Amino acid sequence: MSDLNPMATAPYAQNGRPFLYGGELEGIAQVLASGQYGHGDVTERFERALTGFLGVEDVVAVASGTAALHIALAVAGIGRGDEVIVPSMTFCATVQAIRACGARPRFAEVDPDTLCLRPQDVMEALTPHTRAVLPVLYGGRAVDLSDIRNELEQRKIAIVEDAAHAFGSHRGTVRVGATGDALTCFSFGPVKTLTCGQGGALVPRNPEQAAQARRIRLLGMAESSAERACSTTYHVEGVGLRAHLSQINAAIGLAQIAHFPALEAQRKELWRTYVAALDDVREVRLVDVDVHRSVPTLCAVRVPERDRVFAALRAHGIGVGTHYPPNHLQPAFHRWWRPLIATEQIGKEILTLPFHQKMTSQDARLVTTALREALR
Ligand SMILES: Cc1ncc(COP(=O)(O)O)c(C=O)c1O
Repeated sequence: MSDLNPMATAPYAQNGRPFLYGGELEGIAQVLASGQYGHGDVTERFERALTGFLGVEDVVAVASGTAALHIALAVAGIGRGDEVIVPSMTFCATVQAIRACGARPRFAEVDPDTLCLRPQDVMEALTPHTRAVLPVLYGGRAVDLSDIRNELEQRKIAIVEDAAHAFGSHRGTVRVGATGDALTCFSFGPVKTLTCGQGGALVPRNPEQAAQARRIRLLGMAESSAERACSTTYHVEGVGLRAHLSQINAAIGLAQIAHFPALEAQRKELWRTYVAALDDVREVRLVDVDVHRSVPTLCAVRVPERDRVFAALRAHGIGVGTHYPPNHLQPAFHRWWRPLIATEQIGKEILTLPFHQKMTSQDARLVTTALREALR
């Protein structure tokens, strides 16, 4: 399988990058020629492809993963004054979606081995104001809160999951999104496993949620784009965002999804190559993604003297990253700071290695050799 990306540089120089299969250009060209660039048939075909792939009743495509989170929280009834439990160890987009609803983040710890929220982390963070829990499926690993599901239901606390990293991963025998206990949000941003260039989607739990999400993504209008085209009026029935998925972006996603089985195999193999190559490096602690069930998005490790190691690898042209600086330490979220000792330690040690489909096993070994040298 070849990558048609014309901006090619050494694969290990980039932490993540899109992988193009060849149908994307033709799909975009057809949409451009049609003159219909907003929400349309291609977007709806993409929604049906996602629905079939995930094994769910319905999927609502939106403009980004951040928009999916914002809309899912609104659909779950989250608003001003509500508290949402969220791991501090996530991309700031997760927290900004909470803020966009007028709600407050209640930062929680994570399992130091997986960087995912555990039931005990949720229980520790609960307050009388908690209205939702927002687990982040770090690196692609599913989060299982079934042990506390009844308790959360009794307290009327919704689960909205940030599966930006986890499209295609499984929990048990079903794909993330099909587990039935959460509103699930995906990102199809530039470096996600499946990309639309920019895009996202949410999996509603019932037809009412689906209808509400579809209204919010198109400025609160009750009628679909097709209905509006042959009517002299429309009805605005509530708050709304300009957050539909353009047909141009949907065409990219449609071309990509057909190749998912190959992508899944490649990413798992690259992950296993890294694991084998790092096995005897005592200083490196791998963040486990449960590769058997997951489609990995990141390969994250924890290392001592991270800033020095990061600089040394970057000086060698290796595209390491830090996913993520903890959010409870960010100036914008300082009002909700509380001590999170494990997360603060992780924030000092986390390092992500170049991880995308252009990387060969040889590239991964080159990265791990450079990492060994940097750790000396
Ligand atoms: C964990 C996480 N949540 C949310 C998002 C936001 O997705 P998007 O960039 O599509 O808005 C990202 C994107 O990188 C992410 O990594």
